[in-house]
Amino acid sequence: MTHTLIYPHTSRHNDAGHLEIGGCDVVALADTFGTPLFVYDEQTLRDQCRAYVAAFAGLTPAARVVYASKAFSCRALIELVAQEGLAVDVASGGELAAARAAAYPAADIFFHGNNKTAAELALALDYGIGYVVVDSFSEIAALDAAAGRRGVVQKVLVRITPGVTPATHPAVQTGQPDSKFGFGLTAGQAAEALSLCLAAGHLEPVGVHAHIGSQIFDLSSYRREVEVLMGTLAEWRAALSFDCRLLNLGGGLGIRYTARDQPSSIAELAAVVLAAVAGEAARHEMTPPTILVEPGRSIAGTAAVTLYRVGTIKAVPGGHTYVAVDGGMSDNIRPMLYGSRYEAMIGNRAEVAASFEATVVGKHCESGDVLVRDVMIAPPELGDVLVTPGTGAYGYAMANNYNGQPRPAVVMVAGGAAHVIIARETWDDVLRLQQPLAGAAVVLD
Ligand SMILES: Cc1ncc(COP(=O)(O)O)c(C=O)c1O
Repeated sequence: MTHTLIYPHTSRHNDAGHLEIGGCDVVALADTFGTPLFVYDEQTLRDQCRAYVAAFAGLTPAARVVYASKAFSCRALIELVAQEGLAVDVASGGELAAARAAAYPAADIFFHGNNKTAAELALALDYGIGYVVVDSFSEIAALDAAAGRRGVVQKVLVRITPGVTPATHPAVQTGQPDSKFGFGLTAGQAAEALSLCLAAGHLEPVGVHAHIGSQIFDLSSYRREVEVLMGTLAEWRAALSFDCRLLNLGGGLGIRYTARDQPSSIAELAAVVLAAVAGEAARHEMTPPTILVEPGRSIAGTAAVTLYRVGTIKAVPGGHTYVAVDGGMSDNIRPMLYGSRYEAMIGNRAEVAASFEATVVGKHCESGDVLVRDVMIAPPELGDVLVTPGTGAYGYAMANNYNGQPRPAVVMVAGGAAHVIIARETWDDVLRLQQPLAGAAVVLD
């Protein structure tokens, strides 16, 4: 394979000239399970988890890896990351429900969100969740009251916006001071939030959290993040007697979507982060807190490809050749949200030279429903299995029912076998919650 850093680790071209992943021929997968189909390679997922654990575990300062389940949340994946020894973060009641369905230990779950509802906080407290990452003044009051009603003390981390802006798409920058997430440092809001948590009868602040953004290539942003946060912790130790035990630096390590991308490795991230923490701890004469990192994309992203069936091919004289597939912005909205670039290949002619310039479009009623613009693929034919790699993170997780499109199935492949881990939705599923105009009326008080 030429694209081993873009395709799952077990990818190869088989004797039939087809792409094979986890010992499964993509044409057989498409024939058996239908398309669009997300195909996750179990080996790649485990490799990525193990690379993180190897890079961060057993070193000084102590560190722990937390899987950011927003990248791809489902029972099977949570079970897999649990087997690999990772903690888990969730960003909603639905993601918490998936962790619960996977019987993931509540004590190792972190709960994020800038607007957790009362019902979500209740679910978290009743499940005995390990850590809530508090994100607003009103949440601190609500969580303290809800914990008090249950007679429990909830461990919390205070989410900080450290004022570090990495070079990435503005929509996935989250560390800048003017953000919907967390508490800023400059106007003293973060210190105020910590003081409120320290004074609250039913909250135990054990650490701080920051997440500066996503798809980050330049590791110097992480060094800067550590400097800001460790400096803040030194100030808070003196001013508020706060002994920070957990410093969660968030996720964000970038991955290779196209041959042009040059991401840093997991080992390089660990080296930069751990050296920066050790250096700052020495400078401020502090015992370093336990470091947490929260990767999502760099665990799940490269582990999956999406299989589509080519339905129409339209060559516009003087324009593009539009190769239309049976999915689109309902299963991968990243190109439309962030202008994200992908590669593509014809899976049933994997060995044929990519000599044809195509624009791969979806089936939705939007001109913007373009999955891959101007990409070189083997000359396409109707019925081909078109493959887009790198769709394991924020693909299915952001899938939707636009145009009434049922969400795809998801399979996990390993050793020549495929398991359905999320069933395909049907038109009946899409209709299930809809009621006729003359449905039962609700009389309001
Ligand atoms: C709080 C938090 N942690 C971790 C992540 C995971 O980031 P990534 O998937 O880029 O590693 C995100 C992503 O948005 C996040 O918001």
